[in-house]
Amino acid sequence: RRCFTVLALESSADDTCAAVVTSERKILSNVVVKQNEEHAPYGGIHPLAAVHAHHRNMPGAIRAALNDAQLSMSGIDGIAFTRGPGMHSCLAVCANAAKNLAAALDKPLVGVHHMQAHALTVLLTSPESERPQFPFLTLLISGGHTLLLLTTSQTSFRTLAAAVDQAVGRVFDKVSRALELPWSTRGPGAALEECSNLDMPPEEVPLFPQFPPVQPGKLSFSFDGVHSEVHRLLERIKREGALTIGFKVGVARAFHEAITVQLEEKLVLALRQCAKNGISVRHVVVSGGVASNGFLRNRLRSCVQSKFLGEQISLVYPPPYLCTDNAVMIAWASMDRFLRQEHDNYSIEHLSKWNI
Ligand code: KG4
Ligand code: ZN
Repeated sequence: RRCFTVLALESSADDTCAAVVTSERKILSNVVVKQNEEHAPYGGIHPLAAVHAHHRNMPGAIRAALNDAQLSMSGIDGIAFTRGPGMHSCLAVCANAAKNLAAALDKPLVGVHHMQAHALTVLLTSPESERPQFPFLTLLISGGHTLLLLTTSQTSFRTLAAAVDQAVGRVFDKVSRALELPWSTRGPGAALEECSNLDMPPEEVPLFPQFPPVQPGKLSFSFDGVHSEVHRLLERIKREGALTIGFKVGVARAFHEAITVQLEEKLVLALRQCAKNGISVRHVVVSGGVASNGFLRNRLRSCVQSKFLGEQISLVYPPPYLCTDNAVMIAWASMDRFLRQEHDNYSIEHLSKWNI
């Protein structure tokens, strides 16, 4: 079978993305236009500002993706886009661009589930010897979702657990904002990670007690507790006018610890439950924007290594730059359907809510 080349578009949240990927696993281009500057004054994603920025940035992103790939549209075999879930009017931008391009140029079209794409990225990026085998466990940690999934094929995902309140990435964003950290070009979550890594004399960094276990024995996640605890701490310290850099670093580190411990606990619990139910899981895939966090990556890896000694369970991550939103993952998630010629109609609608 000859090589199939996909142009994919993504605009479900605040990044405008276009990429070209081939069925032979070559990433020919990966364009991500960030909107951090637009949203910084609002202290969070401003929906209307996001839509306007997508409208402004999408044509340039498409042009750049083709230029970087050194292709014209005649070299593109199919067009993929993020169909959902995400912010409704943001999704409309990539959906309409993809549908119009496909219809005008008579190319096949595939609409992709954003979270499935996050989960499947490792099947593109891992070398063959490390590529996860089905069934694998997937921990999806992003700005909109916190999910533990049992992934049994490219298209079957059983949800084992979700967050009962807010998504883990959203809490990173809120704590980052509460600490008044400068939004780095990489965004608030990355700014919080940078803060936790600042090299400070130990005597200037207060230590906070560990947070109690969250919903012990249960698989579901909850982040309201750690969020309000950080909020309470900050209120007190701001009243005392003592919000020093050292204090921020201390809070950032305690927050990282609390989030990591909870993810470790739930992951271990899920692996034990799978084993008890006779489901042989050899790989854990961790993906989504928060999975680009270096501290978390190291800790989850050593946790699984130490708790499942000799059981050869390996943790697989996409490279950090493909954990956060991108169109490469959308292109890759569409590939199977293109190869099976299972296309969508040009009239297909996008879905802001869409179960995995
Ligand atoms: O997957 P993603 O790019 O978009 C969604 O599908 O939501 O995830 C975005 C989330 C944001 O909440 C962002 O702050 C967080 O991922 N994030 C991080 C890091 N980089 C991005 N969180 C912690 N550490 C990071 N280095
Ligand atoms: Zn995402």
